[in-house]
Amino acid sequence: LPHVTTRRLLEMKEQGEKIAMLTAYDYTTARILDRSGVDVILVGDSASNVFSGHDTTLPITIEEMIYHTKAVVRGVQAETSRAMVVIDMPFMSYQLSSEEALRNAGKIMKDNECDAVKMEGGKVIVDTVKRITDVGIPVMGHLGLTPQSIYRFGSYKVRAREKTEAEELLRDAKLLEEAGAFALVLEKIPANLAAEVTRSISIPTIGIGAGQICDGQVLVINDMLGLNTEFHPRFVRKYADLDNIIHDAVSRYVDDVRNGQFPLEEESY
Ligand code: KIV
Ligand code: NA
Repeated sequence: LPHVTTRRLLEMKEQGEKIAMLTAYDYTTARILDRSGVDVILVGDSASNVFSGHDTTLPITIEEMIYHTKAVVRGVQAETSRAMVVIDMPFMSYQLSSEEALRNAGKIMKDNECDAVKMEGGKVIVDTVKRITDVGIPVMGHLGLTPQSIYRFGSYKVRAREKTEAEELLRDAKLLEEAGAFALVLEKIPANLAAEVTRSISIPTIGIGAGQICDGQVLVINDMLGLNTEFHPRFVRKYADLDNIIHDAVSRYVDDVRNGQFPLEEESY
């Protein structure tokens, strides 16, 4: 299979082929995702929550994002690899100035040989998006519930239910497309608004809690594998119950060690 590129994602939108995206933070998971046909692997700053145990995405640093990215990129470098690898730019690595954003995006790309960066926000970041795409670094946008702004929002409720915020989101989507973004994540907004955005721009939309009409879907890997037992929003479909599977395996191992049932003679030298 050919490597997934920004061109390929555009083509998928044009041909009505849905884009499947998931997050990964380590080598082993990235390998499994790539082998399973995932189109885009996002090294999300959700690593701050599900990998490091923070309450929000704000604390994760650019060095930590680069560490995760190196591991993920190694996982898709096999001969069969095809997934595009996109890295979240962490909180405060792109907000201060376009110049600082460009320096950090360049550092992320240069250190990792990944495929693209992702940034949250609309109008306030369009100049930065243009600056970064102009030098050849593909940028994915992210609108709606943008977790780096959680302290301003004050809650994880659905965004853009009211007309003014919905209109602003649609305007932001068009601005990001004009600035050169190659795709747009839409998080936790009404399905009809996501559908309207999807119809209104020519770059693909990738939804999370944004209904059926987006050009693609994304979930946090820990959520969809049932590893995150505290988080049950309606948009997460649990495809496995790894929390219980791992708990069961580890409990049996502990019992076996305690009872002298592991290792057996044939497991010894
Ligand atoms: O960090 C993340 O996992 C994300 C996705 C939920 C889109 O930004
Ligand atoms: Na993110």
